[in-house]
This record gives sequence, C-alpha cells and structure tokens, in this order.
Amino acid sequence: LVGQNKLIVNTDQGHITINRHIYGHFAEHLGRNIYGGIWVGPNSSIPNEDGYRLDVMQALIDLEIPNLRWPGGCFADEYHWTDGIGDPAQRPKMVNTHWGGVTEDNSFGTHEFLNFAKRIGTEPYITGNVGSGSVEEMSKWIEYINFDGVSPMADLRRRNGQEEPWNIKYWGVGNESWGCGGHMTPEYYANEYRRYATFARDYPGSKLYKIAGGANDWDLNWTEVLMKNIPLNMMDGLSLHYYTVTGTWENKGKATEFTKEEYLETLRKAARVDELITKHSTIMDMYDPEKKVGIILDEWGTWFQVEPGTNPGFLYQQNTMRDAHVAAISLNIFNKHAERVHMANLAQTVNVLQAIILTSEDDMILTPTYHVFDLYKPHKDATLVPHHLVTENVAFGQEQLEALHVSSSKSSDGTVNISIANIHPDKNLPLEIDLRGMQAKGATAEIVTAPSVDSYNSFTSKEVVKKSSFKDFKLKSNQLNLSVPANSVLMIRVK
Ligand code: AHR
Repeated sequence: LVGQNKLIVNTDQGHITINRHIYGHFAEHLGRNIYGGIWVGPNSSIPNEDGYRLDVMQALIDLEIPNLRWPGGCFADEYHWTDGIGDPAQRPKMVNTHWGGVTEDNSFGTHEFLNFAKRIGTEPYITGNVGSGSVEEMSKWIEYINFDGVSPMADLRRRNGQEEPWNIKYWGVGNESWGCGGHMTPEYYANEYRRYATFARDYPGSKLYKIAGGANDWDLNWTEVLMKNIPLNMMDGLSLHYYTVTGTWENKGKATEFTKEEYLETLRKAARVDELITKHSTIMDMYDPEKKVGIILDEWGTWFQVEPGTNPGFLYQQNTMRDAHVAAISLNIFNKHAERVHMANLAQTVNVLQAIILTSEDDMILTPTYHVFDLYKPHKDATLVPHHLVTENVAFGQEQLEALHVSSSKSSDGTVNISIANIHPDKNLPLEIDLRGMQAKGATAEIVTAPSVDSYNSFTSKEVVKKSSFKDFKLKSNQLNLSVPANSVLMIRVK
C-alpha cells in the first residue's frame, strides 16, 4: 500500500479513560523556570500578581494544565522545605549545586508553589527529598501541607498565614534515586521507599497518591526489583523518565539547526517510548496484572544543546516544529497506553528543555509544543477509541519512520477526537478516514503547522508556529477525506 494512507476509527469501541494527568507539566528550581519564569517577586517591574508573572500565569490557565510537578528533579533531593517557609527576608539561602551553582534564595517555597497551583487551577505534585533528607523531614512536610487539626506542623502553617490545609494528593518519594537522588541500588531504594512511604501519612480529607522513584529509560531491572519488593498497597504510581536526545548525551544536537536525517532520528527516538512503556508495563503486569499501579512518566521531552551564550546549567533551548512533532507522537503513545500510564509530565514548563513557554525579561512566547498541548485538550478524560492506521514511511539516509501518527478518543458528549501528526517535512498526505460505528453529522478541525520543520517562535516573530482552524476536508456519510498538510499536527473533531 505504498503511498496509500488509511485510517479506520472504531468509534463505538473502547472503555479506557485517557487520564487528563497525562497532560501534566514539571517546574523545577532550574535555570529561569521558577525564577524569572513563574516567579518574579512582588517588587518586580515585570507585571505580576503577588510575585507571579501575569503573562505566564494566564498562559497556563488557558492551557488548563492538570498538574504541576515541583520542586525537582535533581533539586528535590537537596531541597529542605523548612528553608522555604516564613518571612522571605529571613529564609536561608543555598547553592543550587545541580543547576548552574547559583544562589537559591528560597523566596519561592511551599506556600508560593501551592498557592500558584491554586491560582492556575492545577493539581500540585510534590517530590519529597529522600537523597539528603530524612523520613522525619518528609513526614513533617506532609503534616504541614495536609493536616487540618492541632499539631506542631499544622500550627506552624497557620502562623505562616495559611489557615486551611492544601489537601494535596500527588506525592513523589525521591527523584532519580539511581542517580542524582542518591546513587542507590534498586534493592536499597525499595527498602528506603517502604520506610519513607510508611510515614507519608494520609490525613482526613487527603489520601496521598504515592509515587515511587522509577527507572531511567531502559533500566528494566529497576522496575522489576521495585515491583517485587514494594507491596502493591504501598505504591500508587511508579515513575519513569525518558528524554529524547539527538546524537549522544555527550554530543547532543542543536535545538534549531539540524539535518533531515537528524530530524528523523529525533522523532524515531521519541517514538521508541511506545516500546519502552510496553516493556516496563509487561514487567509490572507480572506483579500487578490489574494495572493498579500507574506508570508516571514524570520527565519526558527533548534535550538539546543549550542556546549559545546561555548558562550550560540552565538547560535553555529553543523549540521548533520538530518539538511539536515529538509532543504529538509522545502524547499519542501515552494515550495508547492509558490503561497503564496514569500521568506524564513534560520537562519543563518555562525556559527549560522542551518548554511550553519562553520568557525574556518582561516578554513571553508560546512554543510550538504549547500549541500541541492546546490542540490535544479534547483527549483529556476522553475514552480511548481503537483505530487501525496504514501509513507510508518517511526516509532520509539511514533513518526512517511512519509518516502519520494518530490517536483517537471519544468525549463524554459523543464527539470523536482524532489527532494526526504528518511528520513529513514537505509532502502532503492524502488520507481516507473510515468512522465506524457512528452517524457523523459534522466535523471541525484545528491545525498546528509552519513553513518548515525547523520553524520556531522568537521574541521578534512570535507567531510563526501557531494554532489555527482547518477546513480542508470532506465528510461524506461516515467517511472523511483530506490531504494532511506536510509538517503539521491536526485535531479533527467529529460529531
Ligand atoms: O529535567 C532535568 C533533570 O533531568 C532533572 O532534574 C532530573 O530528574 C533529570 O535527570
């Protein structure tokens, strides 16, 4: 079927919900993510509300992000939460040894984070310190945040101006404990997890969803040892980290300059997350056949060289249409594995790695990745609908990959949502879509596209890549025909 692309969507099938938390984000104390990105402080000349940047806050509200992970990353395992509460002028300063060796003044702490989450309407996901913290420290942090009664920590919270507990749910027990979080063996971490999780208490009205620190990409042994050694009733989620790197970790590619072969290499590597999830999930199935424990893909995205002239420890990179395709391919795959993948968090929100927002002083741009998350909103909490896709391939040099990447779901009002990425840089692809099991009455579509796969939004040209409406399709009874534009991501909604 070379050159013929066909999609069958079985709209009357499917029973698995795509957890909206798959569309989650991650903001670490790293580079200009928190400081300068989310938080500028109440005395800044940059327009803010109580210290939070207004433009970034609005962009996150508009995107309806379901959750936000904080404070790290590697930073989480050297963060001591008591340094970040009380009068900001009295808070001790520390060195952010992982990220650029800069001074962390702790002006953005527990209250600032949890109140930010509240303002933008998102669920906080906090990662506690296992690497350099203690069981007591983590246990008290939870008491401080979630306990409503009379206790030393709840009273301290009230003295710091917060009467009501925040009642948060998502709690991570350490981060990358195999690496920056303490270089532990999986056997050692599994025991540590059991100890920390025991004292991570549920308080009335706030039952924690506890997430164990999971594997680095292909380390299947880590998953196996944790599943074997941690009782299922002690763990709700198991994390997994997967970054897309062009070239090697030592010699990564650039964010905006790449050959067509490097372009395909990046997307092929992103698409491997399908196999990765399958492998980890298969191991988990042996211990948890009912898929009670969720894979929490709480760090994913592209990792390129930093932009020239920027602090190498700040991980600041631009974001092109290639990143938009990485996001589209990854989110389609996470949807596909929704039975096991209960949450995912893109790394990272503002000015770091595959950011959805970039800022420069008081200016802000939305990246192509932001627009894909915006486009994919209908998939959140929708029912995953099975499909069958026949697609031609794209090939450059040694690299090749399927040209079309699809996900399909059904919203509670019966609307069928089909996301399609055509990663071909310069070939429109005719596609016939067969909508089985519904009486299609009409369709609407939106598109994210740009002149080239290396197109990006800059502070002088902010809308090179954006979302717009797309009308170039024909719906006749239950068949939809269109030519999927080269280098585009589409969301088609059929009623
Ligand atoms: O996202 C950047 C870093 O990548 C995180 O701090 C760490 O968990 C991972 O290695």
